[in-house]
Amino acid sequence: MSNSQMLTEKYRPNKLDEIIGQNEIVRRLKRYVKNRNVPHLLFSGLSGTGKTTATIAMAKEIYGSEWQSNFLEINASDDRGIDVIRNKVKNYAATKAIGDSNDVQFKIVFLDESDALTPDAQGALRRTMEKYNLSCRFILSCNYLSKIIEPIISRCAVYQFKKIDTQSIMEKCKYIATQEKYTITLEALEAIAYSSDGDLRKAVGTLETSLLTVENNIITIDDIYKVSYIEPQIIQNIIKKALSGEFLASSLLIENLMSNGSSSNEILKQMMSKITDLTINDKMKIDIAVIIGDTSWRTNVTNEEIMLKWMIAKIAKLGSVIR
Ligand SMILES: Nc1ncnc2c1ncn2[C@@H]1O[C@H](COP(=O)(O)OP(=O)(O)O)[C@@H](O)[C@H]1O
Ligand SMILES: [Mg+2]
Repeated sequence: MSNSQMLTEKYRPNKLDEIIGQNEIVRRLKRYVKNRNVPHLLFSGLSGTGKTTATIAMAKEIYGSEWQSNFLEINASDDRGIDVIRNKVKNYAATKAIGDSNDVQFKIVFLDESDALTPDAQGALRRTMEKYNLSCRFILSCNYLSKIIEPIISRCAVYQFKKIDTQSIMEKCKYIATQEKYTITLEALEAIAYSSDGDLRKAVGTLETSLLTVENNIITIDDIYKVSYIEPQIIQNIIKKALSGEFLASSLLIENLMSNGSSSNEILKQMMSKITDLTINDKMKIDIAVIIGDTSWRTNVTNEEIMLKWMIAKIAKLGSVIR
């Protein structure tokens, strides 16, 4: 690679116009910049969809070179309690905007992962938002809107960031590979898009890891398999073999995946996404989905491999009705 900077940072858009897959949101954010006014904003959506990128790009466009003096970023998952709001946010919000862009009277506080804040802290945040409304605009990001208290939601313009579509992910990864002087095959791009499931940070991360193993600057699907991707065929076979009562064969597939570095979380997620492709009736699909869901939370409290085998046994039992 041409330098040691992480690719996700190196290719993070600096301008709103460079953000992909969120056209409607970008269009409306550009209008705020043009009007030199921003309401409180709440960006909701899965990780790697551009929430932080859009926030920083907008701050840069509003304040120009003074942006860092007028922008405070707090990651709420590091500091989840009420004190962070009391101390950091209030002190910052109470002082005036800096710079000669004096048409903009407010500063921006960016509260990343604000769904990690306790309800008490969210209550304090709500009061702070009201009190310093003139001097300070809040941009909150979260993965799940349901974890934000209603009085905050109603004070913000809410934007739902979509998963990045397959085509855009493939184009971006191809662009990055080319810039880094690599050739990448279409299958490799498809594999990256498939395994990243709309998360562009993950897609670029997979690309980056694959560059470590690739030979003669050509990235093929095998390079992607090696670093992250679980072949859809393997996932299908795990379920099919379990359903047909081949417990040992199914377990072995899981053991292999885990010894090659796949996490139980990854395996479960991909199993869940493959259920719809199976040629079994809907009732059976639902039952399997419930088993996978059950397994998912159980893996947090006990041994992952044991739980995955428990899951296979449950699916095998279910399959015995159709055998
Ligand atoms: N919509 C997007 N357009 C362009 N790049 C993106 C987009 N979303 C994510 N990225 C890439 O992924 C990285 C992480 O994105 P980020 O904005 O931090 O995601 P989020 O805050 O939604 O978790 C960025 O550095 C950038 O390289
Ligand atoms: Mg973020």
